[in-house]
Amino acid sequence: MTRVLVTGGSGGLASVVIPRLIEAGYEPFAFDVAPPPLDKSVPFILGELSSSADCYRALAYSKAEILCHFGAVPGPSELKIGVASHQRGPEDTTMKSNVMGTYYLMEAAARIGLVKKVVFASTYYVLGLLPISGDPFKVEYLPIDEDHPMKPEDSYGLSKIMGEMIIDAWAKAYGGQAVAFRLMGIDKPFKETHSWQEKVKDAPDHKGGPVITTYQYVDARDVAEATVLAIEAEGLDPFEAFYLITDSIYTEDTKDVVARAWPDLVPLAEGLVGTEGIITGAKAARKLGFVPKYSWRNQD
Ligand SMILES: NC(=O)c1ccc[n+]([C@@H]2O[C@H](COP(=O)([O-])OP(=O)(O)OC[C@H]3O[C@@H](n4cnc5c(N)ncnc54)[C@H](O)[C@@H]3O)[C@@H](O)[C@H]2O)c1
Repeated sequence: MTRVLVTGGSGGLASVVIPRLIEAGYEPFAFDVAPPPLDKSVPFILGELSSSADCYRALAYSKAEILCHFGAVPGPSELKIGVASHQRGPEDTTMKSNVMGTYYLMEAAARIGLVKKVVFASTYYVLGLLPISGDPFKVEYLPIDEDHPMKPEDSYGLSKIMGEMIIDAWAKAYGGQAVAFRLMGIDKPFKETHSWQEKVKDAPDHKGGPVITTYQYVDARDVAEATVLAIEAEGLDPFEAFYLITDSIYTEDTKDVVARAWPDLVPLAEGLVGTEGIITGAKAARKLGFVPKYSWRNQD
């Protein structure tokens, strides 16, 4: 059986992906700094991503050929000047865990020499949807695809772009294959009564493009399916990034949502069809054969 190391193995996404990996015939190992909620048949390695020794130990112990790198601090850790907030950790927590963690893992993968493929949980926040300046990121065209410029200002978006660069460099340097999923907000599963549904109705007019959300999401079960597809895909470039999306939450055509929520983007929205979101998942459909199954539109 092919061994898979899943970092962030105690987290929400891993709790859905690991059972799917087992079902698909893989042997998963979980790695996390937090104790696992998983059943004890999945081997668990306790460790810290920002420790080179722990990352090396996890890959050496698991002898993994596939690395699903989902472990991360899933948000920025810097204080915003002038904004009252409570810090959950030191200012550099996000960069240390996410950037150094990815670097240490890929260094260990290179030295041990067994890993052939990496599936990395990146985010649509690489675009720059968490602006510190307060200026919405500049949308150059719609729908946004993987070629759209990315300009993050916050530590989370920056850490994920740097993570993508690190796995890209590993793939090119050592003949591996690396896939970055730019995940939308993960839901498990999405409910029609989700609070976002109200927010999109009341979206205030503002300047420029979206901030924080495009009102699209991905169901964790669809991420699990895409992970298996990415592991088994052949003929991909050494590094590929994919926006991974289950659906928008729009109840009206995307063009109408754009007119109300992001009026400055109306001239760019002419070609948009139906309720497809302003970020497109077309590349994942084309290159991985990914078809999202768990839209709220077809759930009971
Ligand atoms: N949840 C979302 O909406 C969302 C959206 C886009 C991308 N992502 C990305 O998907 C991945 C999984 O997200 P999730 O929803 O399962 O988050 P989660 O917080 O439930 O899981 C992340 C796991 O990483 C572990 N972790 C964090 N820092 C660590 C460290 N320094 N050393 C070892 N382990 C560490 C945590 O203990 C946790 O179990 C993350 O990389 C996240 O950035 C999440």
